[in-house]
Amino acid sequence: MLEIGGDGRTWLLSGPASSYALSLTEDDELLHLHWGARVDLADAEELAARPLPPHWPFESRLDGREEYPVEGGARFARPALSVRTDEVRGTEWAFAGYEVEDDGLRLRFTDHGLAVTLHYRMRDDVVERWVTLANDGPAAVEVLRADSATWTLPLREEGWRLSQLHGRWAAESRLVRSDLTYGEQVIGSRRGHTGHQHLPWVALDADGATEERGEVYGCALGWSGTWRVCVAQLPDARVQITGGAGYDDSGLVRLEAGETYTTPVFAGLWSDGGFGGASRAWHAYQRAYVIPDADRDRPVLYNSWEATYFDISEDRQRELARRAASLGVELFVVDDGWFGARTSDRAGLGDWTPNPERFPAGLTPLADHVHALGMQFGIWVEPEMVNPDSDLYRAHPDWVQYRPGRARTEFRNQLVLNLARADVQEYLWERLDALLADAPIDYVKWDFNRCFTDAGWPGEPYPQKLWVEHVHAFYALLDRLRAAHPKVAFESCSGGGGRIDLGVLSRTDQVWTSDNTDPLDRLAIQHGFSQLHPARVMAAWVTDSPNTQLNGRVSSLRFRFVSAMAGVLGIGGDLAHWSEQELVEARDWVALYKQIRPVVQRGDLYRLRPPTGGLSAVQYVLGDEAVVLAWLQAQRYGEPLAPLRLRGLDPAAAYECRETGEVHRGAVLAHHGLPLELRGDLDATVIRLRRI
Ligand code: DGJ
Repeated sequence: MLEIGGDGRTWLLSGPASSYALSLTEDDELLHLHWGARVDLADAEELAARPLPPHWPFESRLDGREEYPVEGGARFARPALSVRTDEVRGTEWAFAGYEVEDDGLRLRFTDHGLAVTLHYRMRDDVVERWVTLANDGPAAVEVLRADSATWTLPLREEGWRLSQLHGRWAAESRLVRSDLTYGEQVIGSRRGHTGHQHLPWVALDADGATEERGEVYGCALGWSGTWRVCVAQLPDARVQITGGAGYDDSGLVRLEAGETYTTPVFAGLWSDGGFGGASRAWHAYQRAYVIPDADRDRPVLYNSWEATYFDISEDRQRELARRAASLGVELFVVDDGWFGARTSDRAGLGDWTPNPERFPAGLTPLADHVHALGMQFGIWVEPEMVNPDSDLYRAHPDWVQYRPGRARTEFRNQLVLNLARADVQEYLWERLDALLADAPIDYVKWDFNRCFTDAGWPGEPYPQKLWVEHVHAFYALLDRLRAAHPKVAFESCSGGGGRIDLGVLSRTDQVWTSDNTDPLDRLAIQHGFSQLHPARVMAAWVTDSPNTQLNGRVSSLRFRFVSAMAGVLGIGGDLAHWSEQELVEARDWVALYKQIRPVVQRGDLYRLRPPTGGLSAVQYVLGDEAVVLAWLQAQRYGEPLAPLRLRGLDPAAAYECRETGEVHRGAVLAHHGLPLELRGDLDATVIRLRRI
């Protein structure tokens, strides 16, 4: 809902529980008024009437109060917009009007030839913000920095706490909380992709929010390239969060006359339901507005990577497929190694045709075999990369990012294709379109296994634009492939969770959460991931014990399954070496997962206990059904476990436990808890409850 003040210079956007308000001064300064619990237009107008502090030579009266601080004038805070022409630098804008769109607001400003449009759209209680720049003048404009939004928090006496999801390869999205202090805290990626190091999300709470109580502000960026989010506590304790594409301010795009640039969306959410309430609102938002076909549950998949690594043969894949089908798997995915000369990571990337020795008649016979077994068929690709030892690179050594006179840095023996080039875009479109047309492929795991290092583009007058244009080309390619092959599902992978953000999630069906498939480490990774993203997109595999990929940890099949059942269940172990007993047990777990899948993938998530060493648990609620997944890392001193208090249930209702047949009152489950029988190390259980 959008309300506009009588003077046409105050705007109030409201969702079911929250409001966002802003206003324009007589001098066309755009001020932030309110973000938080629902207010009326009269409240916003009272705030708009409050005078700004007087001018003072050592501080800016605008800092910490503006919706979108530009560079120039009496401002010392970090600008969200920094532009220059050959003649001038910075922005002195004039208000040019506003439009109400179907579901949002557009505020237009001009500065000579540059048109700046700020967009606001309310999706339930999520405010989506982005900016469009249009060069309507004759001179070129260099955009040094154009953030998507600056978010302003209310002044609070208590001091703010910052939550972030930090990590590295195989250890992504680990939740860290720390007190915010004066100055700037910057997170981001200067690697060309979203990165394993931080998910583009922050949350701030001021008065000690807990999992289910208190005010929480969150911001998440929808961008899969280099990015930056800066949380600044200014000298007067005001807090602003500014974020967008690009890591530094050295140049994003150059707009020639008539050209435009649109920033990615930076979404903000206020919740007074604690961290759990905020997560549930983020999940609902993504399922409703971001993730394609989120109402359709994701199938149980098998992926051959950890079973075979590069040692792929059609016979071996057929045998794995036969075993996977017997477990109830619904989607069989051949990972890396099926194409070109790709028998190791040293060759073949870029040559997207089946390896003639491994698949003499192409992929169709294997795909047909998989389909005959009743499963969908998927493949792995890494289109943005090339091995120097490949036909593609031999034919087009200039198609990669490189700087003349400098070494071409190889990571994992590969270089990054310059996707900003039209010929590279066309090659990839033709190859991938043909691949999906030539064999009955239902699923594509799209990987990205190295960062940008030599982001040069010889011959291009403004080479740094490739950082942004690579992402646009990646999105355009995915969009085009999805449109041409609407039945094909896509997974975003980047050496595990290196490309997870709202931008890629709007065009992929799930993400590969981490290369770390150890079921214990995964609990912490999944705990962090769930702060922002729903289980519906969080792929999780059951792999071998001892764990081959990472740490050699030994764990039971039970523990591995219950850990992976918290997301989109997959199996990634070498089924050829699983015993008959393990296969029988696995079949039962897959069958159980299919029963609870709608509740896990579409339900509301309650994090009952974080994974800190002892008992941890999550609960999902959908309609009359609830599912609890609980894990015991290590029992100490033989102590019995305290009953697990559940959430999200109707206290007046009775619930039948499908595991025991016992009936429990909702109020008893909430206040006194559900008794659990977990013992020893790495034990786990699944409990299903149905309202009766
Ligand atoms: C990295 C991915 O995260 C793995 O799952 C696997 O697909 C390898 N790449 C293949 O090279």
